[in-house]
Amino acid sequence: MIVLLGGEKGGTGKTTLATNLAVLRASFGKDVLIVDTDRQESASSWCYVREADNITPRISSVLKFGAGVRNELRELKSKYDDIIVDSGGRDSVELRSAMLTADVAIIPMRATQFDLWTISRLSKLVDEVIQVNEGLRVCLMINAASTNPSVKEAEEAEEYLSTFTNLRMLKTIVKERIAFHKAAAEGLSITELVPNDSKAADEITQLYEEIFNEI
Ligand SMILES: Nc1ncnc2c1ncn2[C@@H]1O[C@H](COP(=O)(O)OP(=O)(O)OP(=O)(O)O)[C@@H](O)[C@H]1O
Ligand SMILES: [Mg+2]
Repeated sequence: MIVLLGGEKGGTGKTTLATNLAVLRASFGKDVLIVDTDRQESASSWCYVREADNITPRISSVLKFGAGVRNELRELKSKYDDIIVDSGGRDSVELRSAMLTADVAIIPMRATQFDLWTISRLSKLVDEVIQVNEGLRVCLMINAASTNPSVKEAEEAEEYLSTFTNLRMLKTIVKERIAFHKAAAEGLSITELVPNDSKAADEITQLYEEIFNEI
């Protein structure tokens, strides 16, 4: 399966979620490749740290840029069980190209108005892409939501987002947890950094289940 982490907004957690999902998928014995289409090369840098520290499971990564991403992904699909594509935080050639081949596009967003404003444009883009890639499932999810129970931004955002009928809303909400920063710096996933009973690990595992087994 080709899972794209995308969106038109920067800093929403695409690379964080791509790397975390890749580790979980690989830990279930799947041969996973990260395709990094972002010139910041964040996902690739995370893979290099992992490689340098001999952390297993090994996660391979390649950098791919330009309109050829679509065909490159098509070729790579037969060589791996799953491909996780990390795209940059804007409407780019790479985002559009990857959307034409992906099976699932996950659009993480923070529950802020600035993030929400990008969704009507994204919804229009999805309408265009689906003309070509009919099977594409595009899912929105709230990442880095407040852990303060009195802050209702995530629920309010979910209500607004449910009005876009060509976009699905994932049930899982990943909350803001500082441990994600440490995991990223060490080339780890949150499930490797913290014990299984941590809330952050639980949320990522729930997200993984929802993406790979439920949608
Ligand atoms: N659930 C979370 N809790 C706390 N911090 C988070 C969470 N998700 C992401 N972050 C942090 O937010 C910052 C941005 O995350 P990340 O780099 O994954 O976003 P991105 O969408 O890939 O950004 P870009 O658009 O620049 O590629 C990082 O410092 C990351 O550690
Ligand atoms: Mg990124």
